[in-house]
Amino acid sequence: MNFSQQLIDWYTVNKRSLPWRDTKNPYFIWLSEVILQQTRVQQGLPYYKSFVKKFPSVENLAHAPQDEVLKLWQGLGYYSRARNLQTAAMQIVDNNSKFPDNYKDLLQLKGVGEYTAAAIASFAFGESVAVVDGNVYRVLSRIYGIATPINVPAGVKEFKSLAGKLLDQHDPATYNQAIMEFGAIQCVPKSPDCSVCPFQSNCIAYQEQRVKELPVKLKK
Ligand code: ADE
Repeated sequence: MNFSQQLIDWYTVNKRSLPWRDTKNPYFIWLSEVILQQTRVQQGLPYYKSFVKKFPSVENLAHAPQDEVLKLWQGLGYYSRARNLQTAAMQIVDNNSKFPDNYKDLLQLKGVGEYTAAAIASFAFGESVAVVDGNVYRVLSRIYGIATPINVPAGVKEFKSLAGKLLDQHDPATYNQAIMEFGAIQCVPKSPDCSVCPFQSNCIAYQEQRVKELPVKLKK
């Protein structure tokens, strides 16, 4: 069985039930991804629920007074995320409320970088584009035993290229959710429980006892 199928099988059994996984609404998915940047799922969850409730559409968000948006954001920090979110909502409304439906157009939204664009494009529209976040760097560096630093251009390029090759072309959305979930709850940064890992016999880091050393991050 190939890597992506094995990962998806693990995900099917082990995934957490999270509300943004039960929707194809690109606006809700976008909200969840922005909230979850630099925020843990358990902390972000109530914020996601109140945003969806208070601003159920991109128009509602675009037309809201900024202080209401910032008030709802209180406690999450990095307030530029909330301001960018609303600016991007206005961009969408200005464009006849047509939500960008592909990776390239999503990148044009204020505050939407490669990770967020890939997440929305794959989860909402099924586009074949790999997400690369901290979870993905950790999982791939360990399983493939890659010691290239993740915070230098050569490393970014190498991991993006590998992530793109591994992406399940039939179900990029599930594959992307699966690799992030695997990094979030199984292949965790500190003391992962490799005894229950489905990749134990394939994982180069485990075989070579380098789990602790990977991924490599260069001190700058
Ligand atoms: N962190 C960032 N995006 C996520 C998602 N879609 N599911 C769970 N955790 C996440």
